[in-house]
Amino acid sequence: MNCVVLVGSVRKASLNAALARALADLAPEGVGIEILPSVALMPIYDGDIEEAGFPEAVSDVGARIKAADALVIVTPEYNYSVPGGLKNALDWLSRLKDRPLKGKPTLIQSASPGAMGGARAQYHLRQVLVGIDALVMNVPEVMVAQAHTKITDGVLTDQATRDFIARQLAPFLAFVRKPKAAEAIA
Ligand SMILES: Cc1cc2nc3c(=O)[nH]c(=O)nc-3n(C[C@H](O)[C@H](O)[C@H](O)COP(=O)(O)O)c2cc1C
Repeated sequence: MNCVVLVGSVRKASLNAALARALADLAPEGVGIEILPSVALMPIYDGDIEEAGFPEAVSDVGARIKAADALVIVTPEYNYSVPGGLKNALDWLSRLKDRPLKGKPTLIQSASPGAMGGARAQYHLRQVLVGIDALVMNVPEVMVAQAHTKITDGVLTDQATRDFIARQLAPFLAFVRKPKAAEAIA
């Protein structure tokens, strides 16, 4: 199984990027994890740019998501919602003719130094993903609160959090396989 990861933060010392990097260690055997290029490479959505031709960064990320078995979105919360850069990327991706997120098994994770771990952003993100028709797994949810105490020098060091994430990834694998089984029957 090939899983691509979209990160909602663009800063170098991002806690969420650290969470995304940890996935490669925590994923079950046989699951490949590839972190997608930064959402910062996409310009602000503009219908005129779209008409002139999709930016390379949009087509590239879209093609990688289309080719993958599953998508993980790891994001911070900004002002109780999704960072603008991530929303912008999703807006661009929703415009691609082959609709790379439609029906794509998707998992959400968030990290924050705060007590809620980005929960409010996750629920806004779920709403956006309804419009895009992604197939989002509901539970278990991963919201890493007080993430600055669990991530040291860009590495997720907190063992309880590592174990919890591994316990989310196992059912996600089954979730990804299920629609494939349904397709095979249809
Ligand atoms: C514009 C802005 C708004 C923020 N709003 C929230 C918020 O609503 N909830 C929250 O838990 N943290 C909020 N934060 C703090 C972020 O969770 C924190 O900066 C986090 O480290 C960002 O994620 P990153 O480390 O992956 O870049 C905000 C940060 C910024 C810059």
